[in-house]
Amino acid sequence: MTVETKNQPYLFQAKVADKQLECVGTAKDGQWLVLKDPVTGEKREIYDAISGAAVCSLKHGDTEILSQMNDFAKQSAYTFCANFSNTAAEELAEFMCSKSEGAFSSAMYVCSGSEANEQAMRYAMQYHIEKGDRKRYKFISRVNAYHGYLVGALSIGDNPMKPLLKKMLLSDDQVPKISRLMPYRDQGDLTEEQYCKKLLDNLEETIVSTGQDEVAAVILETVSGSSIGNSVPPKGYLDGVKALCDKYGALLILDEVMCGLGRCGYPFTFMDPEFGLTAGGPDLLTFGKTVGAGIVPLSGVMVAPKVVNAIREGSGVVMGYQTYHSHYLNCSVGLAVQKKIYRDNLIENVREVGAYTKAALKAALKDSKVAGDVRGAGNFISVELVKDKATKESFAPELKMHEVLNQKTFAKGIHFMCIPGTNGYEYVDDKLVMNGAHLTMAPAFGFTKTDADLMVKVIAETFAEIEKEYL
Ligand SMILES: Cc1ncc(COP(=O)(O)O)c(C=O)c1O
Repeated sequence: MTVETKNQPYLFQAKVADKQLECVGTAKDGQWLVLKDPVTGEKREIYDAISGAAVCSLKHGDTEILSQMNDFAKQSAYTFCANFSNTAAEELAEFMCSKSEGAFSSAMYVCSGSEANEQAMRYAMQYHIEKGDRKRYKFISRVNAYHGYLVGALSIGDNPMKPLLKKMLLSDDQVPKISRLMPYRDQGDLTEEQYCKKLLDNLEETIVSTGQDEVAAVILETVSGSSIGNSVPPKGYLDGVKALCDKYGALLILDEVMCGLGRCGYPFTFMDPEFGLTAGGPDLLTFGKTVGAGIVPLSGVMVAPKVVNAIREGSGVVMGYQTYHSHYLNCSVGLAVQKKIYRDNLIENVREVGAYTKAALKAALKDSKVAGDVRGAGNFISVELVKDKATKESFAPELKMHEVLNQKTFAKGIHFMCIPGTNGYEYVDDKLVMNGAHLTMAPAFGFTKTDADLMVKVIAETFAEIEKEYL
């Protein structure tokens, strides 16, 4: 017997009090979703400016990839990674390493960004163990960072739900925090160089005070993602972090799950000539989302020769196996997606049309009293909403301005990611208070200037309405 739920969903995720809008297909060129109201049955088309959650590197329903999937499925046999490798995973790893300019010599695959980050944490631990150093067990990360929702990933992150789940997470001692990276709010009168030094001093003080010989790794988002909206590091920052990691024997893990693999206009985002590493790469890098274009669940870790060699020359065996590590069908699709991205120069398109979009947004919002900051890289761009541009004060949290942003832009036919807590969160009398709000875009890599114009128009109209209604 099926339990009657009336207007409540059977699916137990996100909003469970009411049924959510259901996606029933795609429209136009594949960047548009068809959404059905589960109660009225009414359908509408909406431009997916955030490609789910910055996931769809290709447009939804890419016919070329979908038509190949049948063949991939026919060729696939499930194998367990402890016993056998598979051609698709091996080829994808080689393909991705070949785009890293020598930074990485290996890769592995899991199914989510959270898993990828935990995998990278285990690799860091194993690296030190193989080198005969068993004292290192701490992971330094930033305040307001997001690294996923598994126990380890949530521990290194700083999600507003974290305080409630604290008892099941790693101890604070094991995951020391450094300050957030947010030039818009924190640079003040400092030059870029001075701000960079301030951040690096904070990292060095944290490494030393927590115990420099206990730090396994420092883990950072190269360009911050959902939590504070696409803050880009100051020039020299990543080189400085890498130098400190090397100085104190910790590994550097860059989390590029949301910002990487072309989203910010380069094969890996640490390669950006403006703010990236000037030589080499991190020791480990996590990726996810766009690698499988939302068609299959796929994520993973890129591994630098230093880490690979330590394990090859040591035990020769990577610790730990999971059933769906480097799954054949997922990796086949990932490889086809990656090849298409490079064949069609889609990363260049992200860079060019992304720069056009950011410039157009800045111009359109120049006189807005409530558009505090336009920031980001590639087509991963956020606009921070403020009540007062001069003081950068946010609107009162109880106004839930992220919902206002969402409703207004959605009513105009575009789906962005509209997030609260841009300026942090706190618990006041046991109640969660999220300060600030921002809107983020991350469209498919093949988006056009026409798409950009549409997004800019809708954002400009939305901010103008908010200015009129809320100031
Ligand atoms: C920077 C970053 N790391 C990790 C994750 C977790 O990825 P997943 O949701 O696939 O577990 C996310 C997800 O948004 C992310 O933005």
